[in-house]
Amino acid sequence: MKVISRLATAVYLASLIPFAAHAGEVEVLHWWTSGGEKRAADTLKQMVEAKGHTWKDFAVAGGGGEAAMTVLKTRAVSGNPPAAAQIKGPDIQEWGELGLLTDLNEVAKRQKWDELLPSQVADIMKYDGDYVAVPVNVHRVNWLWINPEVFAKAGAKPPTTLDELFTAADKLKAAGFIAIAHGGQPWQDGTVFEDLAFAILGPADFRKAFVDQDEAVLTGDKMVEVFATLKKLHGYIDANAAGRDWNAAAGLVINGKAGMQIMGDWAKSEWTAAGKIAGEDYSCIPFPGTQGSFAYNIDSLAMFKLADADNRKAQEDLAEIVMGKEFQAIFNKNKGSIPVRQDMDMSSFDSCAQASMKDFKEAAGNGGLQPSLAHGMAASSYVQGAVFDVVTNFFNDANADPKKAAQQLAAAIQAVQ
Ligand code: BGC
Repeated sequence: MKVISRLATAVYLASLIPFAAHAGEVEVLHWWTSGGEKRAADTLKQMVEAKGHTWKDFAVAGGGGEAAMTVLKTRAVSGNPPAAAQIKGPDIQEWGELGLLTDLNEVAKRQKWDELLPSQVADIMKYDGDYVAVPVNVHRVNWLWINPEVFAKAGAKPPTTLDELFTAADKLKAAGFIAIAHGGQPWQDGTVFEDLAFAILGPADFRKAFVDQDEAVLTGDKMVEVFATLKKLHGYIDANAAGRDWNAAAGLVINGKAGMQIMGDWAKSEWTAAGKIAGEDYSCIPFPGTQGSFAYNIDSLAMFKLADADNRKAQEDLAEIVMGKEFQAIFNKNKGSIPVRQDMDMSSFDSCAQASMKDFKEAAGNGGLQPSLAHGMAASSYVQGAVFDVVTNFFNDANADPKKAAQQLAAAIQAVQ
């Protein structure tokens, strides 16, 4: 018996040797801390650990990631960045210019990233022609989340236009519900503003405003209308919205206290975590007036230069896992997003994800696919921050003038360029 157990121990230890030789530590900075987001992030942790590596969680709470980015800058300045950090869009170029990012070309070549990713996505992940980040998913920002039971009780209809949105909101309010569940934080105000801008300006002018930062569009009549509509919308949120987290706002819709939420599809992670079924317990519809268009928000992990070879191996394994089919399916089902790989079978995804993939492909072909400003895809975080300041100040000031706000928007963007 003793001999057998000694033998078993020896065999077990031997089986660990190849692991031990390559086991590294991978520290990952992210802000996936809500109940639903955490379930998704845990998938990554488990898959990294299954390869024998140690996962060091560097989670910084705060939706939209502003707090996480501040902490990352402090760590980088002190010469101690993590192995990987959720950095998105044009900011990847800024970190690349600082010379802090490492390249993932070998993994990318082995896994054929150039073939699997749409070229717009691949370009964002590259600095100077080298892959320096791995894309995790594609989130869509222009969604409206609805509790159908609450809508039915209020006699409201899912809206397809902005006018219908306000008609539905009036009915919900009259029936005693919170019409629009909102969290009063700058990035959430910015998300709602972005959806209104997408609907009112349309995809081409949305791009002119936030990618090209065209002054005529930023100060034009349509932008004034965006601010005026944002003001109107303020009348449909509740008095306790200030400071509320986005997932708490989602909770109000899930629990039947509110009728709808304007939010990107990470909101779905909360519905999924609560055991609710898309198309039955809740509906996802394109934000009114943006049907057929898609404001994208791609989560990605940028990789920092590391000295230790084992940690470097762990970092490469992390990238390989993220682009793998298994991770892309499990993570995205929990996160609310769709896979970034274009070769995935979507049949086991829910109806919201299937609609999202269909619209993504359609929008890519008709000019409707545009980068989200509120989620760091259209411009640098400096421009994003400047827009948030103007929008939040406007949203919280009952006397603010929409025309003046459009002028301020253009001036604030100009100042940080
Ligand atoms: C990120 C999502 C995240 C959301 C809320 C967005 O900017 O892209 O991954 O779930 O913020 O924190």
